[in-house]
Amino acid sequence: MATGSSVERALNDIVSLCKRRGFVFPSSELYGGFAASWDYGPLGVELKNLIKRLWWDEMVTSREDVVGMDCAVTMNPRIWEASGHVESFHDPMVDCKTCGQRFRADNLSEEYCPKSPSKKVSECGGELTPARNFNLMFKIHWGPTEEEDSISYLRPETCQPLFTNFRNITTATRMRVPFGIAQIGKAFRNEITTKAFLFRQREFEQMEMEFFCHPSEAQEWYEKWREVRLNWHKSLGLNPARLRTAPHPPDKLAHYAKAALDIEYQFPMGWGEIEGVHNRGDWDLSRHGQFSGKSLEYRDDRTNERFIPYCVETSAGLDRTFLALMSDAYDQDMAPNDKGEMEKRDVLRFRPRVAPITVAVFPLSRKPDLEELARKIESDLRRVYNHRSMYDETGSIGKRYRRQDEIGTPLCITVDFDTLEDHAVTIRNRDTMQQIRVSMETVATAVADQIRDMEHSFDRG
Ligand code: GAP
Repeated sequence: MATGSSVERALNDIVSLCKRRGFVFPSSELYGGFAASWDYGPLGVELKNLIKRLWWDEMVTSREDVVGMDCAVTMNPRIWEASGHVESFHDPMVDCKTCGQRFRADNLSEEYCPKSPSKKVSECGGELTPARNFNLMFKIHWGPTEEEDSISYLRPETCQPLFTNFRNITTATRMRVPFGIAQIGKAFRNEITTKAFLFRQREFEQMEMEFFCHPSEAQEWYEKWREVRLNWHKSLGLNPARLRTAPHPPDKLAHYAKAALDIEYQFPMGWGEIEGVHNRGDWDLSRHGQFSGKSLEYRDDRTNERFIPYCVETSAGLDRTFLALMSDAYDQDMAPNDKGEMEKRDVLRFRPRVAPITVAVFPLSRKPDLEELARKIESDLRRVYNHRSMYDETGSIGKRYRRQDEIGTPLCITVDFDTLEDHAVTIRNRDTMQQIRVSMETVATAVADQIRDMEHSFDRG
């Protein structure tokens, strides 16, 4: 993935808006930051929660064949031996003796040299050490001693406890193959290079689902899940032209995979994976059966057939989905200021379902009568829009519109002096910037109509 200077400018605009408006802050900024670590601010955490909620609804609550879990981050280290991570979760890395930076040995023709930013690392002439393997798992000591036998790892993916709980789920619930287990949670990888804002971090969140089925049905489920997952990304409002699937060629498949593809989004810095869909065969249940000494064979109680189920995995990155939404929604255009002069505005054109705030309500001035009416409208809408409304009384109306545009609020409502006479308010649309006047009695319906129209404009297939 390239990071030339024009790309950095585009990404920097997004990073800067994220900080300015409280979506994402650099972690530990007070102490000079901490590489590749980010804090989600008040609006960022709302957006993240919306993504999680939409994923959970799609993958768990709306389905009869998938259940959810929330598992421990730290686990018995034998799990990581069984999964193959201790042995083979490596990236080859080289150190540059000239600039002191570390790079992935398999990525030298993609990365720019920090000392000569116009050149790739493969061309800059820096002296590189031979490639060494670097395990990406974070080692920890579990318990009070720092002995060899207390070593464990922060999980590098959320899926493993979904395999190790397979037996618990079939025993404790009525789930029968085919069925899935889903989880959202943190994962940790000691990535060598951590660039492009939220794209490659050392601590990130995954939304994973493991679907267990009969081996003869695995390919069919793999294809079904590919469609479900691609359509879900579209349903967030991501531009379909910036989404694609990239199947892994047979000679590039992971050791456990029978078939695999990436769902990719076209970020400012290029196409990048946001989700993987894998047919993992019986690798995981077989290996955990073997390493634990407890078979994870399944008996179909209708046919009496015994088999190790195959598993189809869908594995989405929450932070990358967040970054895709920010990149897709970010736009610049011209808008009138308070004096009617046109000036540049930054706007996030979120699909309403992912906008952290659906509607903002302003009194034109701090006159108590206006404030009271505006507060009443806001509190009525707050109930309808699940608390995703906001009351704002500071600054000129133009500045208030600009603030809401920058955080992607679809609609703003202004209560002005005429409202006291005609009981009508102004609704202003983020995208068209058109303003309509509606009576206070019909404001909830008018807001619902506009939100519905904006939602429909995103149904682009
Ligand atoms: N269980 C399979 C698995 O973990 P993966 O392709 O390594 O597969 C799945 O990761 C998703 O997790 C990726 O598509 C990506 O969205 C996200 N992801 C992986 N590494 C990441 C990182 N360092 N920073 C942010 N997201 C990451």
